[in-house]
Amino acid sequence: MIVAGNYEALQRRLQAEPAAWLITGVAGFIGSNLLETLLKLDQKVVGLDNFSTGHQYNLDEVQGLVTPQQWQNFTFLEGDIRNPEDCREACEGVDYVLHQAALGSVPRSLEDPALTNENNITGFLNMLIAARDAGVKRFVYAASSSTYGDHPDLPKQEEKIGNPLSPYAVTKLVNELYASVFARSYGFRTIGLRYFNIFGRRQDPEGAYAAVIPKWFAGMIKGESVFINGDGTTSRDFCYIDNCVQANLLAATTESEEAVDQVYNVAFGERTSLNELFGLVRERVAVQYPQAAQIEPTYRDFRPGDVRHSLADIGKARQLLGYEPAYSIAQGLDEAAAWYLRSLG
Ligand SMILES: NC(=O)c1ccc[n+]([C@@H]2O[C@H](COP(=O)([O-])OP(=O)(O)OC[C@H]3O[C@@H](n4cnc5c(N)ncnc54)[C@H](O)[C@@H]3O)[C@@H](O)[C@H]2O)c1
Repeated sequence: MIVAGNYEALQRRLQAEPAAWLITGVAGFIGSNLLETLLKLDQKVVGLDNFSTGHQYNLDEVQGLVTPQQWQNFTFLEGDIRNPEDCREACEGVDYVLHQAALGSVPRSLEDPALTNENNITGFLNMLIAARDAGVKRFVYAASSSTYGDHPDLPKQEEKIGNPLSPYAVTKLVNELYASVFARSYGFRTIGLRYFNIFGRRQDPEGAYAAVIPKWFAGMIKGESVFINGDGTTSRDFCYIDNCVQANLLAATTESEEAVDQVYNVAFGERTSLNELFGLVRERVAVQYPQAAQIEPTYRDFRPGDVRHSLADIGKARQLLGYEPAYSIAQGLDEAAAWYLRSLG
């Protein structure tokens, strides 16, 4: 039976008996945070990335946060999950796969559905095949809250999904379908983590497809206009990155039969509107930039493909994985603000 405090015990266990991990998308936001935690726990890590949306400077930052000895436990492969050979090479000798590589963003997928499909479906299937053939112990993958689509219920429970509202959401749903078929057809053990708006250090503030929190931190720090899509009542379950890292490590290593071949919501379990979020970000930026206190949002149209409200029921992850999110949105924003103010200020 898994109980709270399980994550601390797991970290001690991993440190005593290091394992070999593969992180795909390691140069991205979530991947580089998984890397930081695993190296600090003295794990051996292989990372795969093609730098399409990830950055060398994320890896450099992690290098600066671990000891030289811990950094030696990391092997980076520049490669592409659309290439089966790269996937095979990356999976060699690995115990646990944390598959994060994908093209995120609903608007990007609406503009170029074929590119999102190639990366998120063909790439995913290549990784599943390579991990199965390499005999890895567990394949944990980044699923998405977008899979709930137009289902009206709140909070979202894993078994009740609606129709996808974007090509991106289709790709994440197909990932889940492939994972369940691989369990039934080949007995291959996977866990899908449906992330709900993860935020924190190293989430990219740049580019047309940046997520709302980094975009607002950057905009307010630089004194640029800050936009709210819609009337600001749109709500999300914003989840700090360290909660997401915890869920990945618990999922990879759980020994509970019941917990495997499942999908889980990964969130904090609270809903915040964009108007509320705006205030929370602004007050943190204003600590260092007092003029930011005067910034007001510019409202513009709702974005096509966006779900209006999102809130997770995290009971399943709590019960089966022992997931206990340690950071509320306010605590997470404090940490994120410190990072953005330091790195963009
Ligand atoms: N951030 C969120 O709130 C959130 C929410 C739901 C799901 N997700 C999923 O989590 C995962 C990680 O997202 P993130 O926010 O860290 O995004 P990110 O863009 O920062 O990271 C993705 C990484 O994958 C790499 N990548 C993309 N295509 C690749 C390919 N073909 N081959 C090799 N590497 C490739 C990118 O270069 C990048 O480093 C993605 O699967 C995303 O769909 C994220």
